[in-house]
Amino acid sequence: MAKIILTGDRPTGKLHVGHYVGSLRRRVELQNSGEFDKIYIMIADAQALTDNADNPDKIRENIVEVALDYMSAGIDPAKSTILIQSMIPELTELTFYYANLVTISRLERNPTIKSELQMRGFGNSIPVGFYTYPISQAADITAFKATTVPAGEDQMPMVEQTQEIVQRFNYIYGETLVTPHILLPDNKACLRLPGIDGKAKMSKSLGNCIYLSESEEDVKKKVMSMFTDPNHIKIEDPGSLEGNTVFTYLDAFAKPEHFEEFLPDYAGLDELKAHYERGGLGDVKVKKFLNNVLQSELEPIRKRRAELQKDIPYVYEVLKKGSEEARKVAAATLDDVKASMKINYFDDNALIQESVKKYSN
Ligand code: TRP
Repeated sequence: MAKIILTGDRPTGKLHVGHYVGSLRRRVELQNSGEFDKIYIMIADAQALTDNADNPDKIRENIVEVALDYMSAGIDPAKSTILIQSMIPELTELTFYYANLVTISRLERNPTIKSELQMRGFGNSIPVGFYTYPISQAADITAFKATTVPAGEDQMPMVEQTQEIVQRFNYIYGETLVTPHILLPDNKACLRLPGIDGKAKMSKSLGNCIYLSESEEDVKKKVMSMFTDPNHIKIEDPGSLEGNTVFTYLDAFAKPEHFEEFLPDYAGLDELKAHYERGGLGDVKVKKFLNNVLQSELEPIRKRRAELQKDIPYVYEVLKKGSEEARKVAAATLDDVKASMKINYFDDNALIQESVKKYSN
């Protein structure tokens, strides 16, 4: 069976380093591994509109931002198809049929939806579209017959919902859809990278993000202001790693070659951590190291972005071509779905012949 990736992001803002270690970096590795037959990366504007109906400009502006983030991080349009969700109307049609296979109480149990509802403070005014977006996400995934969804932990309930829809669809209508699996980051720090203030998650509204497109100086400023161990006052004091954001970021970003290049006195991260816990290692030294690590990772991304920004029509062309190509694939799946559901009246010669027979005597 073909190995197919589908994943994506809502275009509600620029992507930050949490997106990068949580999913984007992995996508680039998977893309370049050559192990996948097809890779689709979706800019999920229709999903973004489910809780931004009154702010279409925000979504519109961020389409090109996210596309620039993708391509500057290494998503190569020659190897991966980048598409815009709303350009594929077949997805809404699939969503409508899948909605019959999901109960309201099942939607109510989705933990990601639960926490998002709370965060947004919808109260009793939950938009129906928002409530049902897990069904539309199942359409996104199945339309491309995806086997693999590289994503963060928060997307697990969506993939589980998709698996259930696939199972139920295939049971009722016959084997048609492909069951997908999530591919989570393999490193715990990457699962949920905290904001620079140590708060649980990076979020634009908390102002605690480091963006992929951020300048060298701003990255440095943010790193130097990062939350560490508030009880580590003097250099000699023993420090704690628990909830220490700088070390969490090092867990997510530092590679052996960074030690060779920027901190050759230490064999690796374990040795650095041990010294910090023992006492005698100052925060500033660790932060400077983290800054070097981050800059070396972000510098090539920044450079590619600067190049791409000089040719924005090319970026739109990539999105247009990708969406057109993706639409053909989704349309073929929709044909399969409709045939399985027996709602392909005009393609079904046997059906016409049966009717002819039925009314002929
Ligand atoms: N829900 C994802 C997010 O919040 C975006 C998304 C839409 C997605 N469709 C998808 C992710 C399909 C993976 C697969 O960022």
